[in-house]
Amino acid sequence: MTNREEIERRRTFAIISHPDAGKTTLTEKLLLYGGAINQAGSVKGKQSAKHAVSDWMDIEKQRGISVTSSVLQFNYAGKCVNILDTPGHQDFSEDTYRTLMAADSAVMVIDAAKGVEAQTIKLFKVCTLRHIPIFTFINKMDREARDPFELMENIEEILGIKTYPMNWPIGCGKEFKGVFDRNTRKVLAFSSDGRANGVKKVEETEAELGDAALDQLLTPYLHQQLVDEIELLDGAAEEFDLDRVLRGELSPVFFGSALTNFGVEPFLENFLRLTPTPLARVDSLTGEAVDPCRDEFSAFIFKIQANMNKAHRDRIAFMRICSGKFERGMEAYHVQEGKNIKLATGTQLMAQDRAIVDEAYAGDIIGLFDPGIFSIGDTLCTGKKKVEFAGIPTFSPEHFARIEQKDTMKRKQFVKGMEQIAQEGAIQIFREVGGGMEEVVVGVVGVLQLEVLEYRLNTEYNVEIRMQQLPFEQLRWIQNDPDTYVLRDLDLTSDTKAVEDMKGNRLLLFTSDWAIRWAETHNETLKLSEFGNI
Ligand code: G4P
Repeated sequence: MTNREEIERRRTFAIISHPDAGKTTLTEKLLLYGGAINQAGSVKGKQSAKHAVSDWMDIEKQRGISVTSSVLQFNYAGKCVNILDTPGHQDFSEDTYRTLMAADSAVMVIDAAKGVEAQTIKLFKVCTLRHIPIFTFINKMDREARDPFELMENIEEILGIKTYPMNWPIGCGKEFKGVFDRNTRKVLAFSSDGRANGVKKVEETEAELGDAALDQLLTPYLHQQLVDEIELLDGAAEEFDLDRVLRGELSPVFFGSALTNFGVEPFLENFLRLTPTPLARVDSLTGEAVDPCRDEFSAFIFKIQANMNKAHRDRIAFMRICSGKFERGMEAYHVQEGKNIKLATGTQLMAQDRAIVDEAYAGDIIGLFDPGIFSIGDTLCTGKKKVEFAGIPTFSPEHFARIEQKDTMKRKQFVKGMEQIAQEGAIQIFREVGGGMEEVVVGVVGVLQLEVLEYRLNTEYNVEIRMQQLPFEQLRWIQNDPDTYVLRDLDLTSDTKAVEDMKGNRLLLFTSDWAIRWAETHNETLKLSEFGNI
């Protein structure tokens, strides 16, 4: 296969959802249909000792959750599929957001009984920032579900994106019999061997709408209801428009049940038909898009993970390949360091095994052994003409704590530990404007990261800390020119605090939305942003 053929068969996406909507189950079922596993239940059982990727930290084991995220790869119908797994737990971290930076599309899993929930809204916002296509899988149709028309409306209203049902559910709960495919105009009736947890693939029977056999397969009542609903749907305003899908303006919607496998395969087939090949990333030096199929290699680092395995005390830098081909042992120019480096070990993670990767192509994600040289947002490239990809945005933390070391003699280890952990992007460090490291405010996206920080400072750097949680809930970067814009004169609520990050960018910490609105309305020239740049 030529490089171009390899690259054009890649499909790289992330699955996003509110905890418990069924992201893990759907991921597992995609692996089942992709042939990567033979039986569902072998990848991850939340309560069991196995986790999808890593049990690299005791905290993960104690809580039975996966703090970090990984990449799963499989081949299906000639396509090479990369699923970026994001932590599904409530206490997710900035890594969850960053993972979306490496994806070319997103699949949003929604619980059919609940509709759009809080975490999905946050993740959705990041997807819209990049204008990537967003596909919707409405899950748990095997339970009592909200009316499908109502669910469409719910998505459109809350998320502000148009929807196009690719298929339509036939019944719900115990009566969930199948879906109507609007593209082929065929009914797909599902049946299983009665085993509730969908360990094996499901049987499908195909029939035309109006076919008498459907009265038997679905019941006459559900058949008639389907005919009526399809008529209504076809008369509805939204047309299918692939360009709008690719711009992230129209979300194709699929109905199904990941648990029973109903609708998983039709989803996978249609999704892979519509989701884009590796997207071109923009070189910030020239403002031009870098063709993924060009010969020269380029990639950026979007995540750094430490001590994933006690047996290897190392860091892994995850890189998204943007163009060309990776070969183990190749040399590439590390733009931020300004020198050539050897890309020695490419690893890919599947469950707890690390596989060594000899070659990989644009669209793929691989982990590189990192002796401490990489930072999030770094670019690697080959070829005469250097490229540099724009930095990855820093996402606004939502939990804050004041951190002090208990033993002031261990200042060096404390500073080193804090800086290294911040470099991995697990935490953000702030200090008084113009201040030192004596009093540090730490910001995190998920509150679990504070526990991880305390644990790691203790076990890896031998530093004990005192931690006081602070009432701030939000942060905004100040966009005004630091040389001319004076913070002293700002009119702010008394509980708003000005700080700076390690790069000297100035920010404001707020305890409520109300305090942000106060700052915005009482200071006309103040420019605040929800995202910073690393
Ligand atoms: P998450 O990764 O989004 O957090 O969700 P996960 O897949 O872990 O699913 C959360 C719960 O919902 C699990 O039940 C799972 O079995 C169930 N579930 C997922 N998809 C479906 C579906 O299509 N239909 C139904 N009825 N249930 C579904 P649990 O009891 O919390 O965990 P477990 O003991 O089954 O692992």
